[in-house]
Amino acid sequence: MELPPLLRQAVDRALSGTALADLAASAAALSQRYRDERRDGRLHVANEQDALAYLAVRLPATYAAVRASFAALAQARPNFAPKTALDIGAGPGTALWAAADCWPALEDALLVEASPIFRACGERLAAEAQQSDLVPRMTWRTADVGVDAIDCAPCDLVILAYALNELDAKVRQSVLTRLWRATADTLVIVEPGTPAGWQRILAARRQLIAAGAHVIAPCPHADECPLVPPDWCHFAARVARSRLHRQAKGAEVPWEDEKFSYVAVSRVSALGLGARVIARPRKASGRVTLKLCRPDGSAGDQLFSRRDGAPFKRAWRSDWGASL
Ligand SMILES: C[S@@+](CC[C@H](N)C(=O)[O-])C[C@H]1O[C@@H](n2cnc3c(N)ncnc32)[C@H](O)[C@@H]1O
Repeated sequence: MELPPLLRQAVDRALSGTALADLAASAAALSQRYRDERRDGRLHVANEQDALAYLAVRLPATYAAVRASFAALAQARPNFAPKTALDIGAGPGTALWAAADCWPALEDALLVEASPIFRACGERLAAEAQQSDLVPRMTWRTADVGVDAIDCAPCDLVILAYALNELDAKVRQSVLTRLWRATADTLVIVEPGTPAGWQRILAARRQLIAAGAHVIAPCPHADECPLVPPDWCHFAARVARSRLHRQAKGAEVPWEDEKFSYVAVSRVSALGLGARVIARPRKASGRVTLKLCRPDGSAGDQLFSRRDGAPFKRAWRSDWGASL
């Protein structure tokens, strides 16, 4: 997945003139903090250099994961057309760019971010696109969602992308309760596609179902998740790496696979959800095996062979994350 051209240009502009060695050092330190899920009382993005490193090496990946989650939601609810959005832990506004790409009629967004440096970076990224009305009207607020009230009218779309893991475990439930209250229609939570990220998604899913939410994606049911550790539910989005992205990471390959877990829940149910492909399809001549999460709440492998006709063709064309 590529970034939309306007976002790509804004990121390139922000990064121009940055010394590669500094960027690579900050990117390595930032990635290590994310890998360790370090919670030491300081925000991961603490200074301008961290913010630039995030733009270079993390924003393309979180954009791809969030955009793929939105695509699954849009497929399950084709009539969903949000006008208002609330993005919590917005960082540089990544998820809002993905939302604007998925739902161009989006009009107004409130972005809440704890780091003033990240907020300023996000405001600069969107400035030009805002002048030409190419992204929704964005209002930013610097606030700590663990402590500060989210006092806004309920929004059609509420997003918590790659931020649940940065909240203190003690405040997660209360933040989710408040986010659900702030949701007029649909709430999407995206996390890194690690076993720990999946556990946080599972806990959020349980809490929101208990609060009356309907699950829209990725699960085609609201039963307990049928997967058992060490297995976990996650997906992968292929991200195109720019030259600077490759250089900052010391990587050769022009792409990377961002693993992510997510859940989209709504006040409105989606009818007729199909089975979800929850692993990379395994293909052989005339046969494909899909690992499926099914509407009856079960999960497991299903073999499709050429003699199955149309279902085989559909299965052959489907990819990890698709809905059959
Ligand atoms: C990994 S970044 C994700 C940024 C963006 N959502 C994305 O997907 O690219 C997590 C963001 O959550 C913010 N954050 C962490 N704790 C927060 C809190 N208590 N209140 C508000 N924002 C918070 C961080 O400052 C950071 O910008």
